[in-house]
Amino acid sequence: MRRNSTRLRLVGALAGALLTVVATGPAAQAHPDKEPPTLGELAQRHGRYFGSATDNPELTDTAYTALLGSEFGQITPGNGQKWYATEPQQGVFDFSAGDEIVNLARANHQKVRGHTLVWHSQLPDWLTGKEWTPAELRSVLKKHIQTVVRHYRGKVFAWDVVNEAFNEDGTYRETIFYKTLGPGYIADALRWARQADPHVKLYLNDYNIEAVGPKSDAYYTLAKELKAKRVPLDGIGLQAHLALQYGYPTTLEENLRRFARLGLDTALTEVDVRMLLPATEEKLAQQADWYRDLTEACLAVRRCVGITIWDYTDKYSWIPAFFPGEGAALPWDEQLVPKPAYHAIRQALR
Ligand code: XIL
Repeated sequence: MRRNSTRLRLVGALAGALLTVVATGPAAQAHPDKEPPTLGELAQRHGRYFGSATDNPELTDTAYTALLGSEFGQITPGNGQKWYATEPQQGVFDFSAGDEIVNLARANHQKVRGHTLVWHSQLPDWLTGKEWTPAELRSVLKKHIQTVVRHYRGKVFAWDVVNEAFNEDGTYRETIFYKTLGPGYIADALRWARQADPHVKLYLNDYNIEAVGPKSDAYYTLAKELKAKRVPLDGIGLQAHLALQYGYPTTLEENLRRFARLGLDTALTEVDVRMLLPATEEKLAQQADWYRDLTEACLAVRRCVGITIWDYTDKYSWIPAFFPGEGAALPWDEQLVPKPAYHAIRQALR
């Protein structure tokens, strides 16, 4: 049986005991004696974070917010910082949704990943409903990026500056930004973000780039070019919206390593592992294996800085609404009860 011999368990227990002795600081002291360490605390012992996305409507659910505030070391606003939310009218900025989540996270001593500045989706109508000249769109884009980044300066440690810039075959996605400004919009976006906050980590983020393949190759090539031109890029975010029916990305660790060799951080930024419903014991066990394996892959690569699940409970997962017939993608079920995946993540983090 995998990873379950008495010897391994003994070694694990000893290592755990040692870590408990070595670990210091608020995270270690927050749970004296009996209470098991949280995923956030376990990850912190490896110098990583373990976080969750959240969204404004669910913050009225007190059972939900209790776990959100205690189990995780990092939070990503699921929608609150997107363009439609932050600049609903041209030049009129609204940070209320993003601030609500950032303030809650700060109150709980959680780090925040900013998400996201430039994306083809969830844009306001004033932006998509008009033909822009390149000069106009450049100035709209620069103002948006710099106003949002300045507002959250010192409050978020990273930004997904550009989200989902490539197609599956590694060609550029024909977004309003690409079509109007050409591929240089990515370097510009990174430079503008850097001007607005010299310290925040700047990421490119996408899905289906967990394995080595045409789409992750596109990021590898682009990252190398950007680095060569001294464009500020700190990391690549791998969303990791996985689905049991499509197979596990077995080259994940190798992929993380090649970005690390370029001098880049990586993070698993939006993890969920969906399945065709109904969920069965067998599928939940396979899902647990995948969560364990992806956690181990991140821990194996020094520059993989952390893992974020795309919310933590099936109660608030985006999957059923976007992939009809699929779901059960997160480590906690709809009643906020931990699933096998939760225990598998714990195992991996021990
Ligand atoms: C999703 C949110 O979770 C949903 O609430 C929203 O309706 C649509 O967007 N990739 C991303 C995320 O980068 O921003 C998306 O979030 C999921 C896919």
